Amino acid sequence: LAGVVQGKRLVFLTDTNVFGIYKTLFGNHAIIVVPAAEESKSLATIQHITEQLIDLEADRQTLLVGVGGGVITDITGLVASMYMRGISLGFVPTTLLGMVDASIGGKNGVNVGLYKNMLGTIRQPQFILFDKEFLGTLPQVEWSNGFAEIIKYGCVFDTFLFEELMDHDLQYYMDNIEALQSLIHRCVEWKNKVVMEDETERGQRKLLNFGHTVGHAIENRYGLPHGFAISIGMLIAARISEAYAGLNTEVQHLLRRTLQQYQLPTDLAYEPEGVMSILSLDKKRVNGGIDFVVLEQIGKAAIRKISFDQLSVALLNHTDAGDH
Ligand SMILES: NC(=O)c1ccc[n+]([C@@H]2O[C@H](COP(=O)([O-])OP(=O)(O)OC[C@H]3O[C@@H](n4cnc5c(N)ncnc54)[C@H](O)[C@@H]3O)[C@@H](O)[C@H]2O)c1
Repeated sequence: LAGVVQGKRLVFLTDTNVFGIYKTLFGNHAIIVVPAAEESKSLATIQHITEQLIDLEADRQTLLVGVGGGVITDITGLVASMYMRGISLGFVPTTLLGMVDASIGGKNGVNVGLYKNMLGTIRQPQFILFDKEFLGTLPQVEWSNGFAEIIKYGCVFDTFLFEELMDHDLQYYMDNIEALQSLIHRCVEWKNKVVMEDETERGQRKLLNFGHTVGHAIENRYGLPHGFAISIGMLIAARISEAYAGLNTEVQHLLRRTLQQYQLPTDLAYEPEGVMSILSLDKKRVNGGIDFVVLEQIGKAAIRKISFDQLSVALLNHTDAGDH
């Protein structure tokens, strides 16, 4: 860090788990610790952090550094974009999901009730430091969580990546750090490229939401880790893609099998009406429907307007088909 911050005053933001494991790494710097939970993505936490920044006499020269998973990088981004109308920030992602996705691209946000990321901004960090050593303490469930987003990149952009993932499994990457590093690198490159071309999500960046429309609707409602919800969301999106984008039926089976190889859930007994009530307020809604990311084939995604009626039918079919 010393190499990139050039004498700025640092305030670290992290969660209780990361602080518990890596306390000594923070040295004597000011540090704000929030509970390790999705519930920390709330306005109440933002207010609490702001009060601590005031107590610490943080000013516009202060650099806020988020060290943690997607929850921490999302909160750090939002606080930094609002505190004194904006201060600099940097990230040290410590989860696989944070490294391949959440820390990149500048999107941040907090939830309001069951609605994911309802309040947020786009603010780019000055740096992102990747250190694979953090993955050494990551629970297995968090590895799976990260692989949901890695599989997503394969589905949306990269047939070669998808095939590589099909040929291996979670244990392979947990045991082969070099293979993992090249995988992380590939995902970072994809996300960087997309964000550089379309920071404000008017075009290509929308494709990164594959699996996230339904995924976000079930994430908080059923208390699932982000990647687990996205896993289910991608399968439902694949089913919708079959109906409205001509996706080959075989792909859904391949996707299901690949998700299972990474210990991701492929079935969930959800309540379609409850999910629909959240979807009807989705950020991507447009008169009576949603701009939905579909797959035309592996490695090729597109946006289709799907009506709420069509979505409702797909959700009912998913539960009727015994996919839970
Ligand atoms: N802004 C974006 O572009 C973007 C993209 C994807 C996801 N997200 C958001 O990210 C969040 C999910 O991120 P996440 O999966 O990283 O969750 P998380 O931040 O909750 O981290 C998961 C768990 O791992 C623990 N942990 C973190 N690093 C660890 C380490 N090195 N060793 C041991 N334990 C560690 C955390 O304390 C937590 O309990 C969601 O809120 C999601 O909405 C944001």
